[in-house]
Amino acid sequence: MLPKNSFACPFEHIKNPDQEADKISEIVGRTISRLDSRYPIPDKVLRGVHPKSHGCVKASFEINSDIAPSMQVGLFSLPGKKFNAFIRFSNAAATLGPDISDKGEHGSRGIAIKVFDVADEVLVEDEDGACNQDFLMINQPVFAFANTDDYLHLMRVLDRNNDNPDEFFSPLKLQDPTLTEQEKQKILNYIKAENIDQQGIQRMLNTLTIVKQIKSTAVANPLNIQYFSAAPFLFGQDRVMKYSVKPVYQISPTVLPTDLAVDYLRRALSDSMSQNDRIEFDFMVQLRNGDSDMGIENASSIWDEKQFPFIKLAKIIIPTPQREVNSDANKAQCEAMAFTPWHSLPEHQPIGSINRLRKDVYQSSAEYRNKEREFKNEFFIAVIFKKIVKLLFG
Ligand code: HEM
Repeated sequence: MLPKNSFACPFEHIKNPDQEADKISEIVGRTISRLDSRYPIPDKVLRGVHPKSHGCVKASFEINSDIAPSMQVGLFSLPGKKFNAFIRFSNAAATLGPDISDKGEHGSRGIAIKVFDVADEVLVEDEDGACNQDFLMINQPVFAFANTDDYLHLMRVLDRNNDNPDEFFSPLKLQDPTLTEQEKQKILNYIKAENIDQQGIQRMLNTLTIVKQIKSTAVANPLNIQYFSAAPFLFGQDRVMKYSVKPVYQISPTVLPTDLAVDYLRRALSDSMSQNDRIEFDFMVQLRNGDSDMGIENASSIWDEKQFPFIKLAKIIIPTPQREVNSDANKAQCEAMAFTPWHSLPEHQPIGSINRLRKDVYQSSAEYRNKEREFKNEFFIAVIFKKIVKLLFG
């Protein structure tokens, strides 16, 4: 269900709201059941996606003082205002693993920014009741899955095949002359069961292109790359934004190191955080106002930068050094935090199919992993208490 203060957005087109709600609740259920099978030990439950972090850092989110009056909307309505922020860098992969696969394939990288205490009212409050604005991005300008339907197909495939996504793309192999009749029939059954039409196949081809792009995109340092929201958000009541952050300065390493350790991205980040380099990102938006088909319901559609150039609205300053980035306390805080695009001012409401889906999925994933950890802690306290009682009283 959407929050009370969310806005009926004229740019969204929900074909069948009841059907969409059913699909979202199926995805929530499958996300939790995936967590159960990935993490059989309760206190080790990690995020449903982006479980691997390269580190968390403190930052300051500073609204540009020369911001044009027409851009003074929502978070950006107070030129020169500085907010405290916290940033988590991650890999998007659903499971933990090396930053580069043994086949030499790269993965999607994520950044999540929490801007603290932005207002008295947001769409969804943080667990502690705080009103924060979160910005979540990946290092591609498009999301690989266009809408809730396609994401549901993926979840069913992952559930059936123990996290192996290959079957999702199997319809694209139908013309392969080396297929046996049995293999062909299996694919046809999949197409029928998931009701995949010609448009669905077209989107699948697009997904495959994006996935190939992700696998070939090398990243040397999470602090050196541009990140994108991919999905659209409101910018006030009559405009839509996609947002992005881009480093102002390049810092080392800018090319892949020769020694690609399993966690080389964490190492690059913590090396940078132990030095005194200037680390700054520009926060920028592309804006549209209902000009033509904006692809709101398709998170894989790109907004051409030539036509819709990025406009700088704020700076993110990451003070250095922050040597505690690898400390246990920092890692624990990083793990416990919950980011969602729905931690948002109403003026920046998430919109479109993928964003509507994200609301319940993020909330359930965060609640589930934090509840499991608390449960395990309570369990341990109870065991230790019993042992002490036994020692004292026999
Ligand atoms: C435009 C599309 C998307 C972007 C840019 C995006 C980005 C991110 C990022 C950066 C994080 C890491 C947050 C952190 O560090 O805590 C994250 C977490 C997550 N994402 Fe997405 N994501 C997108 C779409 C989706 C979709 C469609 C789903 C599934 C319905 C999804 C499910 C999740 C989950 C379950 C988490 C972990 C939540 C938690 O346990 O706190 N994401 N996403």
